[in-house]
Amino acid sequence: MKIGIFGTGVVGQTIAGALEGKGHEVMIGTRDPAATQARAAEANARGKTFPDWHREHPAVKLGTFADAARFGEVVVNATSGNGALPALEGAGADALGEKILLDISNPLDFSKGFPPTLTVCNTDSLAEQLQRAYPRVRLVKTLNTTTAALMVNPAAIGGGDHTMFVAGNDAEAKAKVNGWLGEWFGWRDVIDLGDVSNARGLEMLLPLWVRLYGAQGSPMFNFKIVR
Ligand SMILES: NC(=O)c1ccc[n+]([C@@H]2O[C@H](COP(=O)([O-])OP(=O)(O)OC[C@H]3O[C@@H](n4cnc5c(N)ncnc54)[C@H](OP(=O)(O)O)[C@@H]3O)[C@@H](O)[C@H]2O)c1
Repeated sequence: MKIGIFGTGVVGQTIAGALEGKGHEVMIGTRDPAATQARAAEANARGKTFPDWHREHPAVKLGTFADAARFGEVVVNATSGNGALPALEGAGADALGEKILLDISNPLDFSKGFPPTLTVCNTDSLAEQLQRAYPRVRLVKTLNTTTAALMVNPAAIGGGDHTMFVAGNDAEAKAKVNGWLGEWFGWRDVIDLGDVSNARGLEMLLPLWVRLYGAQGSPMFNFKIVR
């Protein structure tokens, strides 16, 4: 499958690497591909610099957000919260069309330090803002509640026996994403919460998630719904 991924950070790199490893054709989208390829000396505490990572994954293509949206049969949004709407604007409604958009982004504001606050919550969510701005896109909120390494390898902890969520308005898109989460990454327990307004709860898990990270001293944990 051809997959477009918005985002050059640790999430974009991790998802792209895992999908490339499964034999998919992947293009990463960024604001300025030439500038992104020239980031050799830029410090990135949470992952490799993009050029270092890209040298290890030469088959992954790099383009603009519009290039990646046109390339992908399905598109993944792994931009920062404040970059999500600009990234979709960069891609444009025509390139996005009615494609399925896996939205992993969180509306975190680190401008006042740690812990971050949410730029939108309670009565709205980033996913809803994106869906309202691009009503034809079939947005599915998922993977935003766990760290990048576990998104693509849930078996790394607890034998993979923990929970992922999906939320979105399009039942067929969610069913496909549910299947891909299993096929691509090995997720076995995926809960469909309902329409896109359920992204509010998924994004509002982040204040808890960042505190758990602090308490545990590691991001290698996840939520498990015990019935
Ligand atoms: N890190 C994790 O383990 C984790 C776990 C769960 C969810 N998430 C969520 O996943 C998303 C990605 O996280 P990350 O740590 O990989 O990367 P990040 O540093 O949060 O985001 C990097 C990406 O955001 C884009 N971006 C930033 N500002 C932008 C703007 N004004 N306009 C357009 N694009 C902009 C950057 O574009 P350029 O390429 O052009 O610089 C880059 O591709 C975030 O929303 C985060 O909350 C992360």
